[in-house]
Amino acid sequence: MSDVLNPPETAEGSTGVPLKPLGKVVAVTSGKGGVGKTFVSANLAAALAKRGHRVLVLDADLGLANLDVVLNLYPKITLHDVFTGKAKLEEAIIRAPGGFSVLLAGSGMVEYSRLTPEVRDDFLRIMSGLVPHYDVVLLDTGAGISDVVLFAVSLASEVLVVATPEPTSLTDAYATIKVLASQQKRSTIRVVINQTARLGDGRAITTQLQQVLDRFVTTESGKPLKLLHMGDIPADPSVRQAIMRRQLLMQTMPGCPAALAIAQLAVKIEETVAPRAA
Ligand SMILES: Nc1ncnc2c1ncn2[C@@H]1O[C@H](COP(=O)(O)OP(=O)(O)OP(=O)(O)O)[C@@H](O)[C@H]1O
Ligand SMILES: [Mg+2]
Repeated sequence: MSDVLNPPETAEGSTGVPLKPLGKVVAVTSGKGGVGKTFVSANLAAALAKRGHRVLVLDADLGLANLDVVLNLYPKITLHDVFTGKAKLEEAIIRAPGGFSVLLAGSGMVEYSRLTPEVRDDFLRIMSGLVPHYDVVLLDTGAGISDVVLFAVSLASEVLVVATPEPTSLTDAYATIKVLASQQKRSTIRVVINQTARLGDGRAITTQLQQVLDRFVTTESGKPLKLLHMGDIPADPSVRQAIMRRQLLMQTMPGCPAALAIAQLAVKIEETVAPRAA
């Protein structure tokens, strides 16, 4: 990891969104909060790690980070120390129980929840240094369309929007997708519907969202924005149980319906962003 702090120069670093996205980076984001981004990020990382990929999850929800709580990890050195120059990037990367690496924001990041040029440059420097070392980097972002969230998403080659079937979550997902299409000129956005009640719900919801987008959103190229349905994760009481115990669902209850759905999601993500070497 010696080159971690010496990423290639990126001229775009100090300008606004959109930036040139970095490869193999998936931003896990949402319109509404509390829909399952952190749960999906952590467990998807475990599922991808189990399939042999080198995975890192970055807690990009700078102001309200809680990946540490979900993983029951409380490291002494965090992203905060890297931002303030108190520690090197490699010192802040730790191993999570699921066989992947994590970079936790830690408390004290609230001051970074505003997108100043310094935050932007630090973020970009850290990301550029990390990417070459992993097969896939997942960004567990905050909800909504704040500057920091949009900036974090702009660094990703792929966006995975998490939504639940609730109407409030769907209208917020629509707003987020619309902003990503216009500001970041995205032509495809991946969608996972979490906490579904019935088989097939997520696909029907994605089709409905697509129809609204087709009517009201045009991309710069003139082509319609394409939503890619990556799967559904059923509402499953095991998820809450695992979170209450601060354990990874994929490790403690790999056979439960939500864990099986995450394993399927990992296969789809692998096919698109982290193909295995033949
Ligand atoms: N498939 C599921 N089945 C049942 N409960 C779920 C499921 N997914 C998520 N939850 C519940 O939703 C809660 C919120 O999940 P999580 O913290 O991952 O959301 P988030 O989108 O990261 O929230 P925030 O926007 O605050 O970062 C979990 O603690 C869990 O109780
Ligand atoms: Mg979260």
